[in-house]
Amino acid sequence: MFVVVGVTGGIAAYKTVHLVRLLVKEGHEVHVVPTDDAVRFVGLPTWEAISRHSVTTSVHDDVARVRHVSLGQSADLVIVAPATANTLAKMATGLADDLLGTTLLATTAPVVVAPAMHTEMWRHPATMANIATLRARGVITVGPADGELTGGDSGPGRMSEPEDIVAAALAAAGAPEADLAGLRAVVTAGGTREPIDPVRFIGNRSSGKQGVAVALAAADRGADVVLIAAYVDEGVLGEASAHPRVRVVRAGTAAELAAAVGHEAGEADAIVMAAAVADYRVADVSEAKLTKDAAAGPGVTLHLVENDDILAGLVGARREGQTVVGFAAETPGEGETLLDRGRRKAARKGADLLAVNQVGWAQGFEVDENEVMILDASGGVVATPRGSKREVADALWDAVRENRGKTK
Ligand code: CTP
Repeated sequence: MFVVVGVTGGIAAYKTVHLVRLLVKEGHEVHVVPTDDAVRFVGLPTWEAISRHSVTTSVHDDVARVRHVSLGQSADLVIVAPATANTLAKMATGLADDLLGTTLLATTAPVVVAPAMHTEMWRHPATMANIATLRARGVITVGPADGELTGGDSGPGRMSEPEDIVAAALAAAGAPEADLAGLRAVVTAGGTREPIDPVRFIGNRSSGKQGVAVALAAADRGADVVLIAAYVDEGVLGEASAHPRVRVVRAGTAAELAAAVGHEAGEADAIVMAAAVADYRVADVSEAKLTKDAAAGPGVTLHLVENDDILAGLVGARREGQTVVGFAAETPGEGETLLDRGRRKAARKGADLLAVNQVGWAQGFEVDENEVMILDASGGVVATPRGSKREVADALWDAVRENRGKTK
């Protein structure tokens, strides 16, 4: 998210250094816009070092890029912390005599202010009227908190804690709640490729989109994620690779995927097997490219041997507190329903949850929408999300949370 943090001239500006750091650590692009008064408390080098972007107070710098409006236009969220009584008054009247003022007028993003001032200034009818005006315009206020102030007096006027301001601001901007914070997740995605010879393989139509969406949803909700990617298109993997809480591990074959899962699963709280793992591999992979000349007749026969069932291995080795989730892609035949098939597989696999979806020539693969039935270990239907793969992913994590709440 592109976040503009306005800083105005109050001693609480030192706390905003931590606020900026929290946002940067979360992976947001943060641009700090201090006022001239703010830099008397905390200087430009600090803001530049902590935000990793150049910082200026003036509308006359970087004019070629029309910075006085471009920051506001680009912003997904604007936070003003601390917001002094003077700044609140300027915001209420729409004054724009510095870069923060122009940015605030140019933005259509949610604006969150964290007032900080002495109690008398906060309670003054002028400030109260300004706050009422700003709230009526949709500005969100966080605090001020009640407590000790710099003059030794106490009362409402302290800037709220950076963690609280960040949480309120991200919620205002529609960012998901960090309800999976601290969860260690392993997610597999994509289809394995089982080599026949140096140029050929047996693969499947999995694009990896659903697995990547599962990984991203968890990371956006605060989990630390290891994404074990079999064959996944770079374009699909891109956003996940860039996420600060996703570590991508590559695997090609079912055996490589099994080894990677074995390596990562021990520490995990939740493991989601969204990868389409080949059930069989070629017994004797040819070192040289197979040629038609070498084939004895008009056809060739490949001898296939069974791969280990990774999910079954995970279920068998599951430790206390670990949640194991499988996926099942089914093509129900005549006279049987998707639910029948799903229930049989849920019973056979023994995973805590199984996400079952119907696939076909034109269904389930390489598309952005999905519909799944989430079953628990006894075959009960927990949820039937339908929508974007991200929506399905979020529903899956909701089910994981509920399942962990019940059983762990
Ligand atoms: N899976 C696995 N290891 C395998 C094959 C599949 O871990 N060798 C996992 C998949 O990642 C998925 C689940 O098992 O989470 C179900 O995969 P699926 O292919 O539907 O199940 P199979 O047991 O292979 O059943 P089927 O006979 O329907 O192919």
